[in-house]
Amino acid sequence: MHRLLTSVLVVVLAGREAAGKNFPFESVQLSQADARSFPAIHFGNRHEPPPHNSAIPRCRAWPGSNDWPSDDEWKRLNVSIDGALLRPMPAAAACYQGDLYNETTCQWLLSQSGRTHFWLDEPLTTLTQWPQGSTCTLNLNPQGTCTRGGFPEYVVNATRVKQIQAAVNFARNKNIRLVIKNTGHDFGGRSMGAGSLSIWTHNLKSFEFIPRYTVGSYSGMAVHVGAGVESWELFNHMARNNCSVVAPGGSTVGVGGGWLAVAGHGVLTSKYGLGADQALAINVVTADGKFLTVDPNNQQELWWALRGGGPSTFGVVTSVIFKAYPPITMTSVPLSFDVNRRPPSSTVPSPATSTLPGTVPPTNGLATASDTATFWRGVSLTYRYCNKVIAAGGMCYSYIYSLGNDSFSFTHSHSIPNITASAATALMKPLFTSLQEDLNIPVTLPNLTDRSASLYAGNGRRTGSANPVNTRYRSRLFPSHLWDDDTAWNATFAAIRAGVEEGGYTFHGIAYSPTEAIAGWPGADSAVNPAWRATALHGSLMDVQPEGISAAEARARDARVHAYVQRWKDLTPGAGAYMNEGDPAEIGWKWSFYGKHYARLLEIKRKWDPWAVFWAQTTVGSEAWEVVSLDDYPAGQNGRLCRPRGRRAE
Ligand SMILES: Cc1cc2nc3c(=O)[nH]c(=O)nc-3n(C[C@H](O)[C@H](O)[C@H](O)COP(=O)(O)OP(=O)(O)OC[C@H]3O[C@@H](n4cnc5c(N)ncnc54)[C@H](O)[C@@H]3O)c2cc1C
Ligand SMILES: *[C@@H]1O[C@H](CO)[C@@H](O)[C@H](O)[C@H]1NC(C)=O
Ligand SMILES: *[C@@H]1O[C@H](CO)[C@@H](O)[C@H](O)[C@H]1NC(C)=O
Ligand SMILES: *[C@@H]1O[C@H](CO)[C@@H](O)[C@H](O)[C@H]1NC(C)=O
Ligand SMILES: *[C@@H]1O[C@H](CO)[C@@H](O)[C@H](O)[C@H]1NC(C)=O
Ligand SMILES: *[C@@H]1O[C@H](CO)[C@@H](O)[C@H](O)[C@H]1NC(C)=O
Ligand SMILES: *[C@@H]1O[C@H](CO)[C@@H](O)[C@H](O)[C@H]1NC(C)=O
Ligand SMILES: *[C@@H]1O[C@H](CO)[C@@H](O)[C@H](O)[C@H]1NC(C)=O
Ligand SMILES: *[C@@H]1O[C@H](CO)[C@@H](O)[C@H](O)[C@H]1NC(C)=O
Repeated sequence: MHRLLTSVLVVVLAGREAAGKNFPFESVQLSQADARSFPAIHFGNRHEPPPHNSAIPRCRAWPGSNDWPSDDEWKRLNVSIDGALLRPMPAAAACYQGDLYNETTCQWLLSQSGRTHFWLDEPLTTLTQWPQGSTCTLNLNPQGTCTRGGFPEYVVNATRVKQIQAAVNFARNKNIRLVIKNTGHDFGGRSMGAGSLSIWTHNLKSFEFIPRYTVGSYSGMAVHVGAGVESWELFNHMARNNCSVVAPGGSTVGVGGGWLAVAGHGVLTSKYGLGADQALAINVVTADGKFLTVDPNNQQELWWALRGGGPSTFGVVTSVIFKAYPPITMTSVPLSFDVNRRPPSSTVPSPATSTLPGTVPPTNGLATASDTATFWRGVSLTYRYCNKVIAAGGMCYSYIYSLGNDSFSFTHSHSIPNITASAATALMKPLFTSLQEDLNIPVTLPNLTDRSASLYAGNGRRTGSANPVNTRYRSRLFPSHLWDDDTAWNATFAAIRAGVEEGGYTFHGIAYSPTEAIAGWPGADSAVNPAWRATALHGSLMDVQPEGISAAEARARDARVHAYVQRWKDLTPGAGAYMNEGDPAEIGWKWSFYGKHYARLLEIKRKWDPWAVFWAQTTVGSEAWEVVSLDDYPAGQNGRLCRPRGRRAE
């Protein structure tokens, strides 16, 4: 195994075309002999004609029903994956009367678990809780009993490719619903599912720096990263290896799961492109249970689809080779102001319920605009100015909060890579001067020196607390042409403003432009939603929902927020949305999330996964199945996965 790795490295160093690489954990693969000894894990053949529709059960197997595997079969699966099968109960079971009751544990979960990042290392939990169905909530005095709800029945704590292959084969052969979870950051319940077997890729933490990797027209540094590596861990690896890699801004987001599969943005996105644009090779277990290296020379359809074509659709990614760049500095220029702020604000959400970045507005003490009209003009001016920051390879990152009683705050920052202090000052000064002199907003341009720039790599820490919350995001990728025209921009900004001012939602805006030119080779030719290539602002409306609301209330909230998003859509016909920070209830999700690529992706899905082993809400082909939700909660995951009645399976 080690010899194999070394020889691959030698080939790479010799400058020959590289065809991916395997980590040692990927060399432990399922053999035909393993599969023969336990027929439930035999491989699939995607070239065999699929069985006639009438021969396919309408629903996935369900615990307790006849088709559910026996305890003995689960035991045999466990043996075949070296004991990695878990059958966890939700952690909050400690709060409920019963065998697992433990008041100390329950108190700790309520007060300390987010700060310690406990939930990220917990096999069931996802950071958005509503899809689970509120059947086991964290509460000192819960009613009823704790049940699993939308959480999986079994979890494979994967540390070897062999285990993933066996799990995929078992699910396919036994008609079990399969889900994949990495960090559980997904906002739409795509990493959970009732009655499922879950493949948990969080512990695939391998890393290797590749000084020279050559494929096609790329020849340069690269990093080989296990699917479970989180952004903060990747930053530490960059620092150790003196390189820069495009990584998620959120420190605990995984790099090989949903981030890569949908697009993936980060602070270097205007300079080097999206996360998906960085991939040079992807190792993956496909629906037939086979383990493949997919790259520009191997399995070209899958290579195209895995970069942007959606998570949990074509396979389980085990590792990725990403482009790496020389070390780079980053200069940060913050800019924040508010209006009508009355200290102390009573409306600041409590930290226990607001843990996502941006759900807690900053404290008082910002520069203040004289009145709301001036405030909004200042915000508009600042967003409009982001096209200059983008042109310099930078990014704007911001939130607008509605604090009630006509009080608002705006927190914004600019991050510009590889710029001298004098160039950064020259770049930002006109904006600050307009705000100060034309609008009388007393903002201050920081005195930048060449020491203000910090190294992009390094200082990797798991920051922020991470508690499951119920924020629902609506996303729109605003095209850059809106910046070129005063009338179009004013209309766009009026629609953004309405969501905050009338709707009362938080607006989250990130400005960057991962154009095709920036994506380069091989990034430009991928399944990434084409809307990304024209965008200058990824805007989202955040609806921070109370826990445990009824299905009817959820539908009403959904309709309400949709009215504001519709205004955005009307102004941006043909554009799209970022699925990772959008909502599974998005109307017209096929176009919004995939644009013109949907049809081609569906063809590839049918070819590579004719069994629909992989399923998650709003993924390609997902319309052929639906969750028969026990609580009727829209887009909830607490129910059995079935093909809709009266419709043929796709
Ligand atoms: C606090 C926070 C910060 C964020 N910051 C950013 C950011 O800076 N940039 C950005 O682009 N996005 C950001 N996001 C959104 C993030 O990209 C998505 O939530 C993304 O889906 C997370 O992927 P994951 O694999 O870590 O999460 P998961 O919830 O575990 O998985 C997400 C989806 O990917 C699938 N999946 C997971 N692992 C695999 C695998 N190995 N193979 C195939 N499919 C897999 C899952 O089935 C699911 O459908 C943030 C989200 C949060 C909550
Ligand atoms: C799987 O096997 C391991 C090791 O024998 C054991 O610890 C674990 O409890 C088993 N899992 C299940 C779900 O029984
Ligand atoms: C409850 O949990 C705490 C902390 O994990 C542990 O020390 C204690 O023994 C548990 N109590 C019971 C009754 O199991
Ligand atoms: C999963 O496996 C890893 C690696 O073996 C181990 O450190 C971790 O404790 C396991 N997690 C659970 C919840 O069993
Ligand atoms: C890091 O890389 C840069 C440029 O690639 C080089 O100038 C520098 O000497 C390297 N530093 C270390 C510590 O290797
Ligand atoms: C708005 O102002 C009124 C009257 O001053 C006050 O009672 C109320 O609490 C304020 N609301 C918010 C959300 O701050
Ligand atoms: C950084 O800027 C300098 C000066 O403009 C330029 O020569 C260099 O190529 C840039 N480096 C990167 C990584 O963009
Ligand atoms: C910036 O420097 C100038 C001159 O040195 C000084 O007067 C000013 O107060 C400084 N501003 C800030 C924000 O530090
Ligand atoms: C756009 O709005 C600004 C105020 O924010 C206003 O000064 C300007 O005249 C408007 N332009 C057009 C073309 O409507």
